[in-house]
Amino acid sequence: MSVAVTDNTKKVTTLRLIEMKQRGEKISMLTAYDYSMAKLIDEAGMDVILVGDSASNVMAGNATTLPITLDQMIYHGRSVVNAVKRALVVVDMPFGTYQGNPILALESAVRMMKETGADCLKLEGGAEIRESVEKILSAGIPVMGHLGLTPQSINKFGTFGVRAKEEAEAEKLVRDAHLLEELGCCSVVLEKIPAVLGERVAKELAIPVIGIGAGGHVDGQVLVMQDMLGITEGFSPKFLRRYANLGEEIRCAVQSYIKDVKAQDFPNEKESY
Ligand code: KIV
Repeated sequence: MSVAVTDNTKKVTTLRLIEMKQRGEKISMLTAYDYSMAKLIDEAGMDVILVGDSASNVMAGNATTLPITLDQMIYHGRSVVNAVKRALVVVDMPFGTYQGNPILALESAVRMMKETGADCLKLEGGAEIRESVEKILSAGIPVMGHLGLTPQSINKFGTFGVRAKEEAEAEKLVRDAHLLEELGCCSVVLEKIPAVLGERVAKELAIPVIGIGAGGHVDGQVLVMQDMLGITEGFSPKFLRRYANLGEEIRCAVQSYIKDVKAQDFPNEKESY
């Protein structure tokens, strides 16, 4: 497959995402956490690259996203930004850096923007984090919201199950989505909610609604890169489509290398100085 991005390909902006929604063009979004993978994903033509705090799970092996720190997210964010020419780069604000304290939120957000060079920050929650969102936006920093299954609240939920199945939670989600739009957020991620609710929010909001397990009638889709490439194994939620089986391919390649080393087949004459 060819490289879709050249040096003069126009950079994706938050404004361009809104124009894409207006045109009915779906937005593609995928996570990345390091330079090499971000470069490949950007060259493939991805619209948005999310430096998700899922790095805590897929890069560091933690059970939840809670342990990852601001410094660690800055390291991942900078590595991705160094690779990307076209995609909009969004970085997750980690747990404990913005909730309940707008001044702390602004300080964390400013560090994130200065030290990563990212285009936008993503925060989890609605009315509960209103003041923090307002404060960050007041500094001219674009904010993407995240509602539904918000993994930083996993200890409150007690389960990774589908959110907002009951009317009260669904109505709160709709109110929160409208609030985020009114505050000035540039888009919202909806995670693991009924498809009809995703469709309703996407129809009611003017800003793009990007889903992960929110059905096909939202404005775009996001997946965790290791999940869709088949690197994480034994994790198969209903919303996940696997586009490759890299886990198996990597194991096979590594086993071939081990075999060649043991058999003294590697390096050969041509591979030696
Ligand atoms: O951290 C992450 O990867 C995310 C996506 C699942 C949306 O927030």
